[in-house]
Amino acid sequence: MSDVEELVTILNQAIEVEYGALFLMPQHIAQLQDPELAAALREACRDELEHAETTARLIYALGGIPKGDFKLLRPMSTPQEMLRAHIEGERRVIELYRRAAAKARRPEHKDILRRLLADEANHQATFTRLLSQLE
Ligand SMILES: [Fe+2]
Ligand SMILES: [Fe+2]
Repeated sequence: MSDVEELVTILNQAIEVEYGALFLMPQHIAQLQDPELAAALREACRDELEHAETTARLIYALGGIPKGDFKLLRPMSTPQEMLRAHIEGERRVIELYRRAAAKARRPEHKDILRRLLADEANHQATFTRLLSQLE
């Protein structure tokens, strides 16, 4: 597999995580009673939507096709369970964008991926803080 093909594969895995978050976040926002938690998820959800588009654009720019073969995720009931799931999603997508940034050759692609990484690190920090307030 060429470097570019590998990069497209990593970015398609990242898109799956973005779609997973986009699938769960609206229902979690609707379920949550705590307005601070709901607001944090709503803000992250807007970012994930933009990330899914940016990542798809990057895949097209590399000559690939966005696939997003994502699995439906099970419903969750407690805020702790929801936050843990999103923290795990952030951890996975951070690892994927880090690998993609290392593989990307064009500086503008590296910049885009670093910006996505910074967003995900912010989400992870926010969700971790909110979870620690509940535990
Ligand atoms: Fe994202
Ligand atoms: Fe995120």
